[in-house]
Amino acid sequence: MTEIDEAAMRHVLGHFATGVTVITAGTEAGPVGMVANSFTSVSLDPPLVLFCAAQSSETWPEIQAVGRFCVNVLGNRQELLASRFAQKGSDRYAGVDHLISGHGNPRLVGAIAQIECRIVAEHPAGDHLIVVGRVLEMEIDESESADLHSPLIFYRGDFARL
Ligand SMILES: Cc1cc2nc3c(=O)[nH]c(=O)nc-3n(C[C@H](O)[C@H](O)[C@H](O)COP(=O)(O)O)c2cc1C
Repeated sequence: MTEIDEAAMRHVLGHFATGVTVITAGTEAGPVGMVANSFTSVSLDPPLVLFCAAQSSETWPEIQAVGRFCVNVLGNRQELLASRFAQKGSDRYAGVDHLISGHGNPRLVGAIAQIECRIVAEHPAGDHLIVVGRVLEMEIDESESADLHSPLIFYRGDFARL
């Protein structure tokens, strides 16, 4: 079997453009969250989505223990928020406007869509875990400004806009 180099894999797969999400959960110790661009929809009936959590993530076990999460789809003005929620050892919520939903999940103000889920399956996949969530509730930003509806993009290792 040909060995696939990690850097080459990052480089080639980076040509697949994605949106950017922050996966949040409300723990007893307070809100947690992590950036994920591995999010995708899976099934309409039942309504399922997934994201992949790194086995090395320190935030994932906290979300896992809660059993629920909110997928906050970031808009094109939220690059700083994305950087903050990908940084280790910082207070990710400092100064970040958020509301706690009826399901107990933090909803980040300004996200263009929010999808609240219950964890229904976890499938190990190499150095990641495929996390499947059943959608409980969804919302999109209905504000007038079309610009706010434009997503933040991740492409070739960097943030971009449409
Ligand atoms: C654009 C972008 C996308 C990311 N996507 C994922 C992802 O899909 N899954 C993941 O586990 N980490 C992803 N990360 C990394 C995590 O956000 C971050 O490194 C991680 O949460 C580190 O903190 P933690 O140990 O508290 O989880 C991504 C980072 C960036 C900047």
